[in-house]
Amino acid sequence: MLNIVKNEILAPYTTMKIGPAAEFFTIVKNRKDVLEAITWAKANKKKIMILGGGSNTLVTKKIKGLVIKNEIKGLDIVEKNKDYALIEGGSGEIWSKFVNFAVTHDLYGAENLFLIPGTVGAAPVQNIGAYGVELKDIFFHLKAIELKTGAEKIFSLVDCDFSYRSSAFKKELKNQYLILSVTLKLSRTPDWKLDYGSIKENLTLKGIVKPNLKNIIAVIQEIRNSKLPNPATLPNSGSFFQNPIISSIKFKKLLKKYPDIPNWPSGKNEVKLSAGWMIERVGLKGKKFGPLGMYEKQALVLVNYNNASAGQVLNFIKKVKAAVYKEFKITLKEEVNIL
Ligand code: EPU
Repeated sequence: MLNIVKNEILAPYTTMKIGPAAEFFTIVKNRKDVLEAITWAKANKKKIMILGGGSNTLVTKKIKGLVIKNEIKGLDIVEKNKDYALIEGGSGEIWSKFVNFAVTHDLYGAENLFLIPGTVGAAPVQNIGAYGVELKDIFFHLKAIELKTGAEKIFSLVDCDFSYRSSAFKKELKNQYLILSVTLKLSRTPDWKLDYGSIKENLTLKGIVKPNLKNIIAVIQEIRNSKLPNPATLPNSGSFFQNPIISSIKFKKLLKKYPDIPNWPSGKNEVKLSAGWMIERVGLKGKKFGPLGMYEKQALVLVNYNNASAGQVLNFIKKVKAAVYKEFKITLKEEVNIL
């Protein structure tokens, strides 16, 4: 039987270590638990909210209804031929464990996404990405349960409607499904993406000309550790804001004023900018405001240095957004899901 508890404090379940209680809370470990939780919520007329690794969630107020902590496990190779393999991960598995599983089976494509915090189930929701690769590039399908009906459905790449840090599960399907598992299609031969950031330079520095998977994840680990704070010691949610995407016309004007502004083409007639650079430019990088601050080595990461309250975070976000808007006339959008 499912253990449903009342008034569970959510802070320990989030990497920001912030958050009041959930009215009701339970942990699910398999499909049967999920169906039981759905039935309970229906009978008690409670809304359901799903929590994965809590690495992309900021809880600012008491959550009414039932919060489901997803701990559905399992890593499997479901199909393998000479060209590719399909691997399926339970949605409650730690994402990096899934990447490691791929690496130990000599499967290529997921390596650049190593060490992104969070769970397998959260990966498609926000189409996680790093170092020139996004989940959508290796996604095969996912299995999910509709919260309203308990029916199971398979979502293909097209169904998920992936875009930069977004998917259908963040838009029209928000809060409607619990993802059970995610299946990736990985290649049996390398197709490296080494151009982003300093991956290539790092390999060259190490004298590695023909890298293998272990070399790549070691380099990714080094780059991430040098820039990103470890949530276990400095509570944070990774990038707090999204990198803004603006029209080429607006960009041309900005470029006149800021000739050194980092930028990347993004689709037709649009340009992606670096929110971290902007935050640094307005003088907020590494400065502490009470218990909070934008990290000294990566200004896009908001760090909770000393038991900040949700209210303090909300005020601080306003301050950062106002400073960036004042300088660039661009409104930053949170990447973190604020509840
Ligand atoms: N930059 C600065 N100052 C900073 C931070 C960045 O000037 O404090 C500029 C630099 O010019 C740098 C450029 O921004 O060359 C890009 O920085 P970085 O490679 O660190 O990446 P990012 O754009 O800030 C994105 C993702 C990260 C991901 C990295 C690497 C978003 C919102 N964030 O950050 O994802 O790890 O690229 O691919 O797209 C996350 O989503 O939680 C996350 C950490």
